[in-house]
Amino acid sequence: MRQKVIAANWKMNMTPSKAEDIMKQLKSKIEKSHAEVVICVPSIDIVPVVSVVKDSNIHIGAENMHYEENGAYTGELSAEMLTDAGVSHVILGHSERREYFMESDMMINKKVRKALQYHITPIICCGETLKQRDAGETFDLIKYQITSAFVNVSATQAIKCIIAYEPIWAIGSGKVATAEQAQEVCLKIRSCISELYNEQVAYLIRIIYGGSVNAANAAELFTQPDIDGGLVGGASLKPEFEEIVNYK
Ligand code: PGA
Repeated sequence: MRQKVIAANWKMNMTPSKAEDIMKQLKSKIEKSHAEVVICVPSIDIVPVVSVVKDSNIHIGAENMHYEENGAYTGELSAEMLTDAGVSHVILGHSERREYFMESDMMINKKVRKALQYHITPIICCGETLKQRDAGETFDLIKYQITSAFVNVSATQAIKCIIAYEPIWAIGSGKVATAEQAQEVCLKIRSCISELYNEQVAYLIRIIYGGSVNAANAAELFTQPDIDGGLVGGASLKPEFEEIVNYK
């Protein structure tokens, strides 16, 4: 059985002192979840939140990472820095990074490989715009994004990755995909992984849904056969995150 994973994506919110306070309040409420809980935070919040959760089973993730080992990349963070700071997961290829920071599928693949080299679990994002969905391009696009992200990633490494299906039209819009829509694409992603690797890898890899997840829709989405949890943006900053993490 695949363990569910629920990841928060704080995006560019929370100063370090606020982040520390919130984590202190949140910790006891989310640490008993049956799911693997990952809180992805802005880089500057990593050190304070890691120190708050260090004796719990809560994981801390980063929201981005550079693919080079080290060197003259002003403003960037390496995989080595993240692991050393206590980070276990990293969101890669989020649509906001693809759109505002020109991240290409090739860059995302390099980041995936670098993260795996440092035993950081990549949370690889993919998803279509409304225009692409309306044009019937969703499956082809997702297949392209997934195939590109997994170039030169071995089957053993692929099993360790998490894929987040995040339709762009559902992110931050309050327009959640229906459970059927989300399940349909997550199943497609699983068959794409089966084609790239084999059925065993497809069975084991975790595929989560993101885009306007909240306390009211989480359970229905997360109990779909091919949806192994969620990536939660806006609602992860609200008290309802506790309910999402402990959904029944
Ligand atoms: P949202 O964001 O939950 O606010 O829609 C999800 C995400 O961008 O990861």
